[in-house]
Amino acid sequence: MTQLAARLGLELPLLQAGMGAVAGPGLCAAVSRAGAGGTLALYKEPPARAVRLVREVAAATGRPFGVNVVPEAAGPAACLDQLRAVLPELPRSAFVTSFGLPDADAAGAVRAAGHPLVVQVGTVADAGSALGLGAAVLVLQGTEAGGHLLGRLPVDSLLADVRARYPYALLAVAGGIATGRDLAGAVARGADGAMAGTLFVPAEESIAHPEFKRRVVEAVADDTLVTSLFDIGWPHRPHRVLRNPLTAATTAAATAKRAPATFIATTRVDGREHPVPRYSAAAPGAGTTGRIEEMAMYCGRSCTRVTARLPAAVIVARLGREYESARGNSSPRPTPRPTPRPNRLQERYR
Ligand SMILES: Cc1cc2nc3c(=O)[nH]c(=O)nc-3n(C[C@H](O)[C@H](O)[C@H](O)COP(=O)(O)O)c2cc1C
Repeated sequence: MTQLAARLGLELPLLQAGMGAVAGPGLCAAVSRAGAGGTLALYKEPPARAVRLVREVAAATGRPFGVNVVPEAAGPAACLDQLRAVLPELPRSAFVTSFGLPDADAAGAVRAAGHPLVVQVGTVADAGSALGLGAAVLVLQGTEAGGHLLGRLPVDSLLADVRARYPYALLAVAGGIATGRDLAGAVARGADGAMAGTLFVPAEESIAHPEFKRRVVEAVADDTLVTSLFDIGWPHRPHRVLRNPLTAATTAAATAKRAPATFIATTRVDGREHPVPRYSAAAPGAGTTGRIEEMAMYCGRSCTRVTARLPAAVIVARLGREYESARGNSSPRPTPRPTPRPNRLQERYR
């Protein structure tokens, strides 16, 4: 048990990342039932559908789970609408995770509803801003991570910098976590826990496209790269993806005269078809048909250690066992820290 697990009511200090086109109610509920922080992706879901998805999770687990918003992709107004719709539906034990800084209204709505706010950041400056917004937990994302990248530092450097500046903050790391040994290593280096995304992409309950799952299982770290190619629907944010025919030519010159953004696939949601242009930020889900191999398959460098399609309960149980045994064997033991107390910024919002 770490302070982070205690704060969020988890058995294991591990959060599953909210992931658009991957983390639906089935994955979220299965991870939550297994004792980790299952999280439902709201990404660009319209509020009415978001409410239905939250109700599905709440009906399937009595344990804490999270809902994830992406203010930068959804837009601040739409993000606030999502939150206003789902907050009244959440059980008391639920938490809310935000990819990047939410605005003051969104953070205030989460706090007013009494749910812990978990904010993922990629810089020391944003860590301070997130604490100023009342974040209960910070997720420090390193450049090893799959998906969109919030900063430029490898995860260990970011952790060391943020821990030095905010000794009492609850910190999880994101990027490079796929085993219990990875988690134990992060805790030994001063983290209170971790968030993993790529690890759960091939889970049985994940709604990622089967081809996406297959590629993640087969990939090693160097099959991923950071690009800005998949910018339709979420511009100006570099992202780590699996290499594919489009990324093969990602020199600046090739990007400038890239192939036309014609529709290459279709995603069916609630019986309605949504065309997917080439270079869309949307990842291929179970309901996507077309040129899957040309779509954005977000994947972290941790994929080397993700080697099977398993039920989420098995993934979490195995990671928990590895974590316990790695902690038992770890030498030296983690540096003792003073009993956590809120820092001045957090105190203001108590
Ligand atoms: C397929 C995929 C989709 C993602 N989508 C989201 C998202 O919708 N919201 C979010 O907060 N983070 C998202 N992320 C990023 C994660 O929050 C996290 O930073 C990352 O998964 C950590 O690195 P790892 O994938 O190596 O574990 C996504 C990551 C992946 C791999």
